[in-house]
Amino acid sequence: MIKNDEVFRTAYRSNLCGLLKAEDADKKVMLCGWVGKRRDHGKLIFVDLRDFSGVIQLVFDPSFAKDAYESAKEIRTEYAIQIEGIIKPRSDETVNNDIATGNIEISVSKLVIFNTSKTPPFNLDDRESIDEFTRLRYRFIDLRTAEMQDNIRLKNKIMYAARNFLQSNGFIEVETPILGKSTPEGARDFLVPSRLNPNKFYALPQSPQLFKQILMFSGFDRIFQLARCFRDEDLRADRQPEFTQIDLEMSFVRQEDVTTLIEMLIRDIMKTVLDKETEIPFKKLTWEESMSQYGSDKPDTRFELKIKDISDLFKNSGVKIFKDVLQSGGVIKCLLLENSDDFSRKDLDQFVETARKNGAGGLLWIKIDENLDFQSPVAKFLSEKEKSELVSHLSLKPKNLILIVSDRFETACLVLGILRNQIGRKLKLVNEDLFDFLWVYDFPLFEWDQKEKKYKSMHHPFTKPSEETVKYIDEDPLKVKSVSYDIILNGNELGGGSIRINNIDLQTRILKLLNVDLEKAKENFGFFLNAMEYGTPPHGGIALGLDRFAMLLGGLKSIREVIAFPKTQSAFDIMTETPSVVSAEQLKELHIKAVEIDPEQ
Ligand code: AMO
Repeated sequence: MIKNDEVFRTAYRSNLCGLLKAEDADKKVMLCGWVGKRRDHGKLIFVDLRDFSGVIQLVFDPSFAKDAYESAKEIRTEYAIQIEGIIKPRSDETVNNDIATGNIEISVSKLVIFNTSKTPPFNLDDRESIDEFTRLRYRFIDLRTAEMQDNIRLKNKIMYAARNFLQSNGFIEVETPILGKSTPEGARDFLVPSRLNPNKFYALPQSPQLFKQILMFSGFDRIFQLARCFRDEDLRADRQPEFTQIDLEMSFVRQEDVTTLIEMLIRDIMKTVLDKETEIPFKKLTWEESMSQYGSDKPDTRFELKIKDISDLFKNSGVKIFKDVLQSGGVIKCLLLENSDDFSRKDLDQFVETARKNGAGGLLWIKIDENLDFQSPVAKFLSEKEKSELVSHLSLKPKNLILIVSDRFETACLVLGILRNQIGRKLKLVNEDLFDFLWVYDFPLFEWDQKEKKYKSMHHPFTKPSEETVKYIDEDPLKVKSVSYDIILNGNELGGGSIRINNIDLQTRILKLLNVDLEKAKENFGFFLNAMEYGTPPHGGIALGLDRFAMLLGGLKSIREVIAFPKTQSAFDIMTETPSVVSAEQLKELHIKAVEIDPEQ
């Protein structure tokens, strides 16, 4: 919040509305802003005047200023006006404790109407009740609301704090091209046709990845950007086709150099933006621990409810599905819930449905009754030994409920992780006041893409394999770990980065393993591979999603709330009606022929 309004003094105004104080009573002021609520009491007219700093009540009294009172009859909601007047304390019965200036008002001596306004499409004080479509269509009005002013200003504070911190830690801000080549973040590119180079296209950057690495090759040592990134991917509440990253790269660093710097950056941002102390270093989990205990690579560790592994108890089980899964290298995992009364039969059926939808064969549940007996469709198949081992291993108590998934490691973890989050919310286990930061590291370098039948980089192809595991690269690539790290906030991926490969032979080997056509790679980023042969320093970096960060710090549900002009789920800007059709002449100039697409196909 602005504390001092001196810099806002202009030829039109002496002060900001929201900063006026009772101690300034009898002072003469000149204010500008928009008309909010207006109440005509016949003898007096009351108007709320709003600028970005807040609201002040104006009083138009004909016995004080007749002309101003007469003009005030004309004004309506959202007119832009200027007034002159005197600050007056309000009488005790009229004090409004809901606003910062609620103990004063302005006796208006002069009113100037800058501009009238059409009736706004919604009441600015009741934004929540308006559907998002209308708010986005009239974004220029929506942005006037106190909520949107706060959201956009909150993001600005993060940007300001980040810039300040990074500049004072030796980073310089270097711009890199927006009209560039395809970069390797793995989403679809947005393409821009080139008028001067017929049939050729630029790609908008998915991130400045290759350029920031090249700046390290070029000896800049530490660079950062508040980087605009563009990705043509399916949108969700925390994804936009264009978004901003706090994106940085450093030379001569190991993982802990980058993560320590980011911890200090985040601590600084939390202090500057929210005046909150943040303890560092943050907690850390390896990817394996994170998957195995929380069923997610972005675990919400604001609540316990860890996933437990019970494979060992069923090594010699007669239950066929347990036996089969264990024999084929799978696992048996479970969630132990305190009180089965929290869950209806319908809930249990839904858990089974969720398991199936997410690739598991099913889910078994066991209720523990008062005598520590098992109530479950699977109970009759379990031996007494298995039951008693389960009781002692899980320290079972009456009323407990166990949800079991036996499957491949990834599937069992994923399903129980999804259920863990659902149950955490249902049972209100999450402490919503916490800002819970956490590192997940030691990711596998590759994952197997079942659909395309090939290895894919879990981060991106320039991520360095760990020194301990690089030896498995030919015999068992899935065993290779990367030197990469994600920063998680309250169960959301806030950012990710890695130490990069700085050796052309290793880089080429990895590209081959990823089945990247080397000719194609040369076409796409030959400049980068070429640059790598001229004395590349060890280097690494990270990018934090700025919009996501602002959304989480603001306690907001959608990333659209912190972007002034966002796009909808279908990547459409409702206010500007973009994307739109362009003229035949423009297309011709760009050497592009539009063809009709049958929407049915
Ligand atoms: P990555 O692809 O993990 O890494 O992106 C980093 C962070 O950017 C944010 N983010 C998004 N935010 C909004 N909308 C989107 N569509 C979107 N996609 C990503 C997330 C994410 O954690 N070049 C690497 C970084 C590096 O290695 O230095 C990169 O872009 O918060």
